[in-house]
Amino acid sequence: MLAAPLIWSWICNVHVAWAFYEQERKLKWVFRGGGVSGCALLSCWQYVLRAGLDDLALFRRATLASLGGGATVSRLGTTNPKPKIAFLFLTNTDLHFAPLWELFFQNNEGLYNIYVHADPFSKITPPGGRATPTLISAARRLLATALLDDPLNSYFALISQHCIPLHSFQYLYSSLFLKPISSPKSPSFPMYPSFIEMISDEPLLWDRYIARGKNVMLPEVPFDRFRIGSQFFVLTRQHALVVIRDRRLWRKFKLPCLNLYSCYPEEHYFPTLLSMEDPDGCTHYTLTRVNWTGSVDGHPHTYGPAEVSPRLIEELRVSNSSYSFMFARKFSPDCLQPLLDMADNVLFRD
Ligand SMILES: *[C@@H]1O[C@H](CO)[C@@H](O)[C@H](O)[C@H]1NC(C)=O
Ligand SMILES: *[C@@H]1O[C@H](CO)[C@@H](O)[C@H](O)[C@H]1NC(C)=O
Repeated sequence: MLAAPLIWSWICNVHVAWAFYEQERKLKWVFRGGGVSGCALLSCWQYVLRAGLDDLALFRRATLASLGGGATVSRLGTTNPKPKIAFLFLTNTDLHFAPLWELFFQNNEGLYNIYVHADPFSKITPPGGRATPTLISAARRLLATALLDDPLNSYFALISQHCIPLHSFQYLYSSLFLKPISSPKSPSFPMYPSFIEMISDEPLLWDRYIARGKNVMLPEVPFDRFRIGSQFFVLTRQHALVVIRDRRLWRKFKLPCLNLYSCYPEEHYFPTLLSMEDPDGCTHYTLTRVNWTGSVDGHPHTYGPAEVSPRLIEELRVSNSSYSFMFARKFSPDCLQPLLDMADNVLFRD
Protein backbone atom coordinates (compact mmCIF):
# COMPACT_ATOMS: atom_id res chain seq x y z
CA MET A 1 0.00 0.00 0.00
CA LEU A 2 1.44 3.35 0.96
CA ALA A 3 5.17 3.53 1.19
CA ALA A 4 7.01 5.66 3.67
CA PRO A 5 6.71 9.41 3.13
CA LEU A 6 9.58 11.69 2.39
CA ILE A 7 9.23 15.03 3.97
CA TRP A 8 10.75 17.96 2.20
CA SER A 9 10.71 21.41 3.46
CA TRP A 10 11.11 24.81 1.94
CA ILE A 11 12.15 27.57 4.24
CA CYS A 12 11.86 31.25 3.54
CA ASN A 13 9.76 33.63 5.54
CA VAL A 14 7.41 30.72 5.95
CA HIS A 15 7.88 27.03 6.42
CA VAL A 16 6.63 24.96 3.54
CA ALA A 17 6.91 21.24 3.90
CA TRP A 18 5.93 18.76 1.26
CA ALA A 19 5.16 15.34 2.58
CA PHE A 20 4.67 12.67 0.04
CA TYR A 21 5.01 9.05 -0.74
CA GLU A 22 8.52 7.79 -1.15
CA GLN A 23 9.27 7.24 -4.77
CA GLU A 24 12.31 9.13 -5.78
CA ARG A 25 11.73 9.04 -9.49
CA LYS A 26 8.38 10.72 -9.02
CA LEU A 27 9.91 13.69 -7.26
CA LYS A 28 10.94 15.30 -10.53
CA TRP A 29 7.39 15.02 -11.70
CA VAL A 30 6.21 16.95 -8.71
CA PHE A 31 8.86 19.61 -9.04
CA ARG A 32 8.53 20.18 -12.76
CA GLY A 33 7.27 23.46 -14.12
CA GLY A 34 4.61 25.06 -12.01
CA GLY A 35 4.53 22.06 -9.74
CA VAL A 36 6.19 24.10 -7.08
CA SER A 37 4.26 27.24 -7.92
CA GLY A 38 3.25 27.86 -4.33
CA CYS A 39 6.86 27.82 -3.38
CA ALA A 40 8.53 29.30 -6.41
CA LEU A 41 6.33 32.34 -5.98
CA LEU A 42 7.37 32.63 -2.40
CA SER A 43 10.98 32.39 -3.59
CA CYS A 44 11.87 29.70 -1.16
CA TRP A 45 14.72 27.28 -1.09
CA GLN A 46 14.42 23.63 -0.47
CA TYR A 47 16.14 20.99 1.52
CA VAL A 48 15.42 17.52 2.75
CA LEU A 49 14.06 17.77 6.23
CA ARG A 50 13.55 14.16 7.05
CA ALA A 51 13.59 11.12 4.86
CA GLY A 52 12.37 7.59 5.07
CA LEU A 53 10.22 7.87 8.16
CA ASP A 54 7.26 5.64 8.00
CA ASP A 55 3.93 6.93 9.13
CA LEU A 56 3.96 5.23 12.47
CA ALA A 57 7.39 6.57 13.33
CA LEU A 58 6.35 10.01 12.15
CA PHE A 59 3.21 9.94 14.30
CA ARG A 60 5.16 8.68 17.31
CA ARG A 61 7.72 11.41 16.97
CA ALA A 62 5.02 14.05 16.63
CA THR A 63 3.20 12.69 19.67
CA LEU A 64 6.31 12.55 21.83
CA ALA A 65 7.43 16.00 20.76
CA SER A 66 4.03 17.40 21.60
CA LEU A 67 3.86 15.70 24.97
CA GLY A 68 7.18 17.27 25.84
CA GLY A 69 5.97 20.67 24.74
CA GLY A 70 2.57 20.44 26.36
CA ALA A 71 2.86 24.01 27.52
CA THR A 72 2.04 25.20 24.02
CA VAL A 73 -1.63 24.40 24.52
CA SER A 74 -1.90 26.89 27.31
CA ARG A 75 -0.24 29.48 25.12
CA LEU A 76 -3.38 29.76 23.05
CA GLY A 77 -4.54 33.32 23.09
CA THR A 78 -1.61 34.73 25.01
CA THR A 79 0.48 37.41 23.40
CA ASN A 80 4.04 36.25 23.81
CA PRO A 81 4.98 34.15 21.92
CA LYS A 82 2.06 34.29 19.57
CA PRO A 83 0.29 31.10 18.57
CA LYS A 84 0.34 30.24 14.88
CA ILE A 85 -2.09 28.80 12.40
CA ALA A 86 -0.75 25.89 10.37
CA PHE A 87 -2.21 25.85 6.86
CA LEU A 88 -2.25 22.33 5.49
CA PHE A 89 -2.63 22.35 1.72
CA LEU A 90 -3.88 19.05 0.39
CA THR A 91 -3.46 19.09 -3.36
CA ASN A 92 -2.92 16.87 -6.37
CA THR A 93 -2.31 19.74 -8.78
CA ASP A 94 -0.49 23.05 -8.80
CA LEU A 95 -1.68 25.56 -6.25
CA HIS A 96 -3.63 27.71 -8.71
CA PHE A 97 -4.49 30.31 -6.14
CA ALA A 98 -0.97 30.71 -4.74
CA PRO A 99 -0.85 34.45 -5.66
CA LEU A 100 -4.12 35.01 -3.78
CA TRP A 101 -2.88 33.10 -0.75
CA GLU A 102 0.33 35.13 -0.85
CA LEU A 103 -1.67 38.33 -0.56
CA PHE A 104 -3.61 36.72 2.27
CA PHE A 105 -0.41 35.87 4.16
CA GLN A 106 1.41 39.13 3.40
CA ASN A 107 2.54 41.08 6.49
CA ASN A 108 1.50 38.34 8.89
CA GLU A 109 4.87 36.64 9.20
CA GLY A 110 5.34 34.75 12.43
CA LEU A 111 1.65 33.98 12.76
CA TYR A 112 1.39 31.08 10.35
CA ASN A 113 3.17 28.14 8.75
CA ILE A 114 2.35 26.47 5.45
CA TYR A 115 2.58 22.77 4.69
CA VAL A 116 1.79 21.26 1.32
CA HIS A 117 0.99 17.65 0.64
CA ALA A 118 1.29 16.76 -3.00
CA ASP A 119 0.37 13.32 -4.19
CA PRO A 120 2.75 12.42 -7.01
CA PHE A 121 0.49 9.58 -8.08
CA SER A 122 -2.55 11.75 -8.60
CA LYS A 123 -2.35 12.33 -12.31
CA ILE A 124 -1.61 8.76 -13.19
CA THR A 125 -4.44 7.41 -11.06
CA PRO A 126 -7.67 7.78 -12.99
CA PRO A 127 -10.36 9.88 -11.33
CA GLY A 128 -12.37 7.63 -9.06
CA GLY A 129 -9.38 7.06 -6.82
CA ARG A 130 -11.77 8.24 -4.17
CA ALA A 131 -13.32 5.62 -1.91
CA THR A 132 -9.82 4.89 -0.61
CA PRO A 133 -8.30 6.07 2.65
CA THR A 134 -5.43 7.94 0.95
CA LEU A 135 -6.88 11.36 1.75
CA ILE A 136 -6.99 10.42 5.41
CA SER A 137 -3.35 9.34 5.27
CA ALA A 138 -2.38 12.57 3.58
CA ALA A 139 -4.20 14.71 6.16
CA ARG A 140 -2.70 12.75 9.05
CA ARG A 141 0.81 13.18 7.62
CA LEU A 142 0.23 16.89 7.25
CA LEU A 143 -0.97 17.12 10.84
CA ALA A 144 1.98 15.11 12.15
CA THR A 145 4.48 17.13 10.13
CA ALA A 146 3.02 20.40 11.35
CA LEU A 147 2.85 19.21 14.98
CA LEU A 148 6.50 18.21 14.86
CA ASP A 149 7.69 21.23 12.97
CA ASP A 150 6.61 24.02 15.27
CA PRO A 151 5.27 23.80 18.82
CA LEU A 152 3.58 27.16 18.27
CA ASN A 153 1.27 25.69 15.63
CA SER A 154 -1.98 25.90 17.59
CA TYR A 155 -4.67 25.64 14.94
CA PHE A 156 -4.47 23.39 11.88
CA ALA A 157 -6.54 24.35 8.85
CA LEU A 158 -6.95 21.85 6.03
CA ILE A 159 -7.23 23.58 2.65
CA SER A 160 -7.41 22.26 -0.92
CA GLN A 161 -6.19 23.83 -4.13
CA HIS A 162 -9.81 24.72 -4.93
CA CYS A 163 -10.28 26.68 -1.68
CA ILE A 164 -10.15 30.45 -1.41
CA PRO A 165 -10.01 32.68 1.67
CA LEU A 166 -13.21 34.69 2.32
CA HIS A 167 -11.65 37.08 4.84
CA SER A 168 -8.31 38.66 5.65
CA PHE A 169 -5.73 36.74 7.63
CA GLN A 170 -6.16 39.10 10.60
CA TYR A 171 -9.89 38.50 10.64
CA LEU A 172 -9.38 34.75 10.69
CA TYR A 173 -6.62 34.96 13.28
CA SER A 174 -8.57 37.10 15.70
CA SER A 175 -11.73 35.04 15.22
CA LEU A 176 -9.82 31.91 16.16
CA PHE A 177 -7.67 33.19 18.99
CA LEU A 178 -9.40 36.21 20.46
CA LYS A 179 -12.90 34.87 20.50
CA PRO A 180 -13.01 31.70 22.60
CA ILE A 181 -16.45 30.28 23.15
CA SER A 182 -17.61 29.35 26.62
CA SER A 183 -17.54 25.69 27.35
CA PRO A 184 -20.89 24.03 28.04
CA LYS A 185 -19.37 22.16 30.99
CA SER A 186 -17.68 25.06 32.70
CA PRO A 187 -19.06 28.33 31.33
CA SER A 188 -16.52 30.48 33.12
CA PHE A 189 -13.61 28.86 31.26
CA PRO A 190 -13.08 30.01 27.72
CA MET A 191 -12.65 27.18 25.26
CA TYR A 192 -10.92 27.02 21.92
CA PRO A 193 -12.99 24.67 19.81
CA SER A 194 -12.15 22.64 16.75
CA PHE A 195 -14.24 23.52 13.73
CA ILE A 196 -15.33 20.27 12.22
CA GLU A 197 -18.65 19.20 10.82
CA MET A 198 -20.32 16.19 12.46
CA ILE A 199 -23.61 15.10 10.97
CA SER A 200 -25.70 12.17 12.16
CA ASP A 201 -28.97 12.68 10.29
CA GLU A 202 -27.82 12.17 6.71
CA PRO A 203 -30.27 10.02 4.73
CA LEU A 204 -27.45 7.94 3.26
CA LEU A 205 -25.65 7.43 6.56
CA TRP A 206 -26.44 3.72 6.74
CA ASP A 207 -25.20 3.06 3.20
CA ARG A 208 -22.00 4.82 4.04
CA TYR A 209 -21.68 2.91 7.29
CA ILE A 210 -21.96 -0.49 5.63
CA ALA A 211 -19.81 0.39 2.61
CA ARG A 212 -17.17 -2.08 3.85
CA GLY A 213 -19.67 -4.82 4.75
CA LYS A 214 -22.34 -5.10 7.38
CA ASN A 215 -20.59 -5.69 10.69
CA VAL A 216 -17.13 -4.70 9.69
CA MET A 217 -17.01 -1.46 11.70
CA LEU A 218 -17.96 -3.22 14.94
CA PRO A 219 -17.16 -3.13 17.76
CA GLU A 220 -15.09 0.05 17.51
CA VAL A 221 -17.67 2.04 15.56
CA PRO A 222 -21.33 1.24 16.29
CA PHE A 223 -23.73 2.78 13.79
CA ASP A 224 -25.05 5.34 16.27
CA ARG A 225 -21.55 6.75 16.73
CA PHE A 226 -20.86 7.01 13.00
CA ARG A 227 -20.72 10.60 11.69
CA ILE A 228 -20.15 12.32 8.42
CA GLY A 229 -18.89 15.79 7.63
CA SER A 230 -16.64 17.87 5.43
CA GLN A 231 -13.01 16.85 5.55
CA PHE A 232 -12.10 20.55 5.55
CA PHE A 233 -11.59 21.22 9.22
CA VAL A 234 -9.76 23.63 11.50
CA LEU A 235 -8.47 21.61 14.46
CA THR A 236 -6.86 22.64 17.72
CA ARG A 237 -3.46 21.22 18.56
CA GLN A 238 -5.04 18.95 21.13
CA HIS A 239 -7.40 17.46 18.55
CA ALA A 240 -4.66 17.19 15.93
CA LEU A 241 -2.87 15.00 18.46
CA VAL A 242 -5.97 12.90 19.01
CA VAL A 243 -6.02 12.26 15.25
CA ILE A 244 -2.41 11.20 14.87
CA ARG A 245 -2.44 9.07 18.01
CA ASP A 246 -5.47 7.13 16.91
CA ARG A 247 -4.92 3.59 15.68
CA ARG A 248 -8.15 1.95 16.76
CA LEU A 249 -10.50 3.69 14.36
CA TRP A 250 -7.91 4.04 11.64
CA ARG A 251 -7.66 0.23 11.50
CA LYS A 252 -11.33 0.18 10.55
CA PHE A 253 -11.53 3.16 8.25
CA LYS A 254 -8.59 2.03 6.16
CA LEU A 255 -10.31 -1.24 5.28
CA PRO A 256 -11.21 -1.48 1.60
CA CYS A 257 -14.67 -0.43 0.51
CA LEU A 258 -17.00 -2.86 -1.23
CA ASN A 259 -19.55 -0.25 -2.19
CA LEU A 260 -17.47 2.48 -3.80
CA TYR A 261 -20.45 4.75 -4.33
CA SER A 262 -21.11 5.21 -0.64
CA CYS A 263 -17.54 5.31 0.49
CA TYR A 264 -15.85 8.61 1.30
CA PRO A 265 -13.56 7.61 4.17
CA GLU A 266 -12.13 11.11 4.68
CA GLU A 267 -15.67 12.43 5.27
CA HIS A 268 -16.29 9.79 7.94
CA TYR A 269 -13.07 9.18 9.79
CA PHE A 270 -12.36 12.63 11.25
CA PRO A 271 -15.95 13.48 12.30
CA THR A 272 -16.49 10.03 13.81
CA LEU A 273 -13.21 10.01 15.70
CA LEU A 274 -13.59 13.50 17.15
CA SER A 275 -17.25 13.08 17.97
CA MET A 276 -16.27 10.01 19.99
CA GLU A 277 -13.27 11.61 21.66
CA ASP A 278 -14.43 15.14 22.42
CA PRO A 279 -17.84 16.13 21.05
CA ASP A 280 -18.08 19.16 23.36
CA GLY A 281 -14.72 20.46 22.19
CA CYS A 282 -15.92 20.70 18.58
CA THR A 283 -18.35 23.10 16.93
CA HIS A 284 -19.94 20.40 14.74
CA TYR A 285 -19.75 22.77 11.79
CA THR A 286 -17.01 23.66 9.35
CA LEU A 287 -15.62 27.10 8.49
CA THR A 288 -15.34 26.14 4.81
CA ARG A 289 -18.36 26.98 2.69
CA VAL A 290 -19.28 24.61 -0.09
CA ASN A 291 -22.22 24.61 -2.48
CA TRP A 292 -23.84 21.22 -2.94
CA THR A 293 -26.72 22.56 -5.02
CA GLY A 294 -26.68 20.77 -8.34
CA SER A 295 -23.72 18.58 -7.37
CA VAL A 296 -22.43 16.11 -9.93
CA ASP A 297 -20.88 12.71 -9.08
CA GLY A 298 -20.39 13.61 -5.46
CA HIS A 299 -18.54 16.82 -6.38
CA PRO A 300 -19.92 20.19 -5.26
CA HIS A 301 -20.62 23.13 -7.54
CA THR A 302 -17.42 24.59 -8.99
CA TYR A 303 -17.54 28.35 -9.40
CA GLY A 304 -16.29 29.76 -12.70
CA PRO A 305 -14.95 33.29 -13.37
CA ALA A 306 -18.33 34.57 -14.59
CA GLU A 307 -19.83 33.83 -11.18
CA VAL A 308 -17.14 35.58 -9.16
CA SER A 309 -18.46 38.89 -7.83
CA PRO A 310 -18.40 40.89 -4.60
CA ARG A 311 -21.97 39.73 -4.03
CA LEU A 312 -20.98 36.08 -4.24
CA ILE A 313 -18.27 36.61 -1.63
CA GLU A 314 -20.75 38.33 0.69
CA GLU A 315 -23.18 35.48 0.21
CA LEU A 316 -20.60 32.80 0.83
CA ARG A 317 -19.51 34.38 4.10
CA VAL A 318 -22.95 34.16 5.67
CA SER A 319 -23.32 31.22 8.02
CA ASN A 320 -25.82 30.00 10.57
CA SER A 321 -23.24 29.92 13.34
CA SER A 322 -21.71 32.77 15.28
CA TYR A 323 -18.67 32.56 13.01
CA SER A 324 -18.55 33.78 9.45
CA PHE A 325 -17.34 31.26 6.89
CA MET A 326 -13.59 31.75 6.47
CA PHE A 327 -12.92 29.71 3.32
CA ALA A 328 -14.96 28.55 0.33
CA ARG A 329 -14.67 25.87 -2.33
CA LYS A 330 -14.62 24.90 -5.12
CA PHE A 331 -13.30 27.53 -7.52
CA SER A 332 -11.89 26.77 -10.96
CA PRO A 333 -8.29 27.88 -11.61
CA ASP A 334 -9.37 30.63 -14.03
CA CYS A 335 -11.12 32.44 -11.15
CA LEU A 336 -7.69 33.63 -10.02
CA GLN A 337 -7.69 36.96 -11.88
CA PRO A 338 -11.20 38.08 -10.92
CA LEU A 339 -10.43 37.11 -7.33
CA LEU A 340 -7.15 39.02 -7.34
CA ASP A 341 -8.93 42.03 -8.80
CA MET A 342 -11.18 42.26 -5.76
CA ALA A 343 -8.74 40.99 -3.15
CA ASP A 344 -8.10 44.32 -1.44
CA ASN A 345 -11.53 45.84 -1.79
CA VAL A 346 -13.70 42.83 -1.11
CA LEU A 347 -12.03 39.60 0.01
CA PHE A 348 -9.63 41.05 2.54
CA ARG A 349 -11.73 44.02 3.58
CA ASP A 350 -13.64 43.05 6.69
C1 LIG B 1 -24.88 27.15 -5.81
O1 LIG B 1 -24.75 26.54 -7.07
C2 LIG B 1 -25.85 26.73 -7.94
C3 LIG B 1 -25.55 25.98 -9.23
O2 LIG B 1 -25.41 24.62 -9.03
C4 LIG B 1 -26.07 28.20 -8.19
O3 LIG B 1 -27.23 28.37 -9.01
C5 LIG B 1 -26.24 28.94 -6.89
O4 LIG B 1 -26.30 30.32 -7.13
C6 LIG B 1 -25.07 28.66 -5.96
N1 LIG B 1 -25.31 29.26 -4.65
C7 LIG B 1 -24.49 30.18 -4.14
C8 LIG B 1 -24.83 30.69 -2.77
O5 LIG B 1 -23.49 30.55 -4.69
C1 LIG C 1 -28.90 27.96 7.40
O1 LIG C 1 -30.01 27.27 7.87
C2 LIG C 1 -31.11 27.22 6.96
C3 LIG C 1 -32.28 26.56 7.66
O2 LIG C 1 -31.91 25.36 8.23
C4 LIG C 1 -30.69 26.47 5.71
O3 LIG C 1 -31.73 26.44 4.76
C5 LIG C 1 -29.49 27.17 5.09
O4 LIG C 1 -29.02 26.43 3.97
C6 LIG C 1 -28.38 27.32 6.11
N1 LIG C 1 -27.31 28.13 5.54
C7 LIG C 1 -26.05 27.72 5.52
C8 LIG C 1 -25.11 28.67 4.91
O5 LIG C 1 -25.68 26.67 5.96
